[in-house]
Amino acid sequence: MKVLVTGASGYIGSHACLELLRAGHEVVGFDNLSNSSQTSMDRVRGLARGPLRFEKLDLLDKPGLEKIMALGFDAVMHFAGLKAVGESVEKPDLYRRNNVDGSANLLAAMKTAGCRRLVFSSSCTVYGEVKKNPVDESHPRGAVNPYGRTKLDIEDMCFELARAEKGWRIALLRYFNPVGADAGGRIGEDPHGLPNNLMPFVMQTAVGRREKVRVFGADYPTPDGTGVRDYIHVTDLALGHIAALDRLDVFDGAEAVNLGAGRGYSVLEVIKAASKAAGKDIPYEISPRRPGDSAAIWADPTFAKKKLGWSAARGLGEMCADAWRWQRDNPEGYGA
Ligand code: WQD
Repeated sequence: MKVLVTGASGYIGSHACLELLRAGHEVVGFDNLSNSSQTSMDRVRGLARGPLRFEKLDLLDKPGLEKIMALGFDAVMHFAGLKAVGESVEKPDLYRRNNVDGSANLLAAMKTAGCRRLVFSSSCTVYGEVKKNPVDESHPRGAVNPYGRTKLDIEDMCFELARAEKGWRIALLRYFNPVGADAGGRIGEDPHGLPNNLMPFVMQTAVGRREKVRVFGADYPTPDGTGVRDYIHVTDLALGHIAALDRLDVFDGAEAVNLGAGRGYSVLEVIKAASKAAGKDIPYEISPRRPGDSAAIWADPTFAKKKLGWSAARGLGEMCADAWRWQRDNPEGYGA
């Protein structure tokens, strides 16, 4: 198929482009490069043959969106969006405009071009306060921060559009915690500035860019007191998108699917596994809780297996080994 990938040069987007090419699809990608590097596209081309065209474009550029959609696509994979929870609290209007208005522009351009097949990068953040683990797709939704609110609002836009107009087939993929990198060590997670997320911070500490990891709270009601999350290898996540793309015909309107491994690991378990992968003890200190964090959340992956015929295959050891290889070979990420 010919697929348009928004946010193509980003962490998840670049891994999706790679797996799309490996599966024999034709890819056109765009990104506004506000939090990614075009180098990732060159690296993807080095890893997989196949047609990969990249354009610099912003979701707020309506004429630009209409122009690129006029190339004609079988489906769109939509990754573009701001995703730092903390930043969303400081700049809620920026997140609304970029994520929600930008997605509305994309849907309108798709409609104009007659393309009604979409795989959307949603997030477990839409579940808000966790009532019960494991979390399945029927768990109540709620927003506990502006970032999560944008994902929830985009999901609602998709549900409403699919109810109003026949022919839309939309997979809303709710990610848990994506980590790791393609096993070739050539593409990976390269957040600009101080990493918000645990794994990139741990790996930057292992490679000597950071002094130590701060463990945000060790007094949670969890086995070792630290936060528990469902980490999923980014390659498994990308393959989940391919599975959804291949099965869009069985999506009746818009439907949500959890993409998680179905088990939780604590912060200390991640640091231990990362230390093993890096062959060195990664220094850390117990620090106060981070506001807004929940104690534990992990997925019930049953529906993904049933709907997509997909489940995560890679365990924490492989996630850390692949994350370390990327960081060791690219200490400064994609470079200055
Ligand atoms: C994981 C655990 C922290 C950093 C967020 C978004 C979610 C998704 C993934 C986009 C928690 C602890 C973290 C650190 C720490 N993103 N931690 N020290 O918050 O579960 O999810 O990223 O879709 O939407 O909400 O991920 O990696 O920030 O935190 O102790 O320096 O690690 O308290 O328990 P989170 P995270």
